Amino acid sequence: MGAQVRLDDFDGRHLNDPAYLRWLRDYDVIRTLNLPAYWEPVAFSQVQEYVRSILASKTDRLFALIDTRDEAFIGTMKAGHVDWDARTADVGIMIGERERWGQGLARDGIRSLCEWLFSACDLRRLTAGFMAVNPSMESPFLRNGFKREGVLRQHDRLRDGGYSDHILLGCFADEFSNAIRGKGSNS
Ligand SMILES: CC(C)(COP(=O)(O)OP(=O)(O)OC[C@H]1O[C@@H](n2cnc3c(N)ncnc32)[C@H](O)[C@@H]1OP(=O)(O)O)[C@@H](O)C(=O)NCCC(=O)NCCS
Repeated sequence: MGAQVRLDDFDGRHLNDPAYLRWLRDYDVIRTLNLPAYWEPVAFSQVQEYVRSILASKTDRLFALIDTRDEAFIGTMKAGHVDWDARTADVGIMIGERERWGQGLARDGIRSLCEWLFSACDLRRLTAGFMAVNPSMESPFLRNGFKREGVLRQHDRLRDGGYSDHILLGCFADEFSNAIRGKGSNS
């Protein structure tokens, strides 16, 4: 694990790569991001503003997810809400290239980002959340040591009407270590 993807700092090259805007305008990609503002094709200026704010943030860090098999830019990962006192952060992922789903790349990317956050950044605990209508998001986190911690019932709006539960996950450093060493039941 860890060899299939690499995390590069997100910069202007990624912002200006046409693939990035294409993903953010692909309803199949964005429907599970809990971003109703993106249900209509998002303007490039709005994406630029989002990236500018995140690159200027002291609490968020955005990465480009690179498939090392062919060096393709395939998605993004974010460490958000980094709290250096509590030593916590929230982990998010979007793989924009749909034909690469189901190949273990999310699991690999989550592993790489967690490794960096726990080891290099000395964080203590990571969280993640996902819409229950996106069940393929759970296994990549569980396999990296995350546990289910709660359910926000009927929390996220759906475009076609109704609401989705929002699942909350959390992981301590030792749970991650055990999972990647194969000691956890979900590794
Ligand atoms: C969700 C997403 C990140 C998953 O990426 P991925 O690279 O396909 O994930 P992986 O291949 O590492 O793992 C997918 C897992 O889901 C499982 N899965 C697939 N379809 C499933 C389903 N309908 N129900 C339950 N599990 C499912 C797969 O079996 C696999 O688990 P396994 O490795 O234990 O067999 C990707 O689909 C994506 O970016 N979607 C759009 C953006 C998004 O929703 N981001 C998450 C926001 S929180």
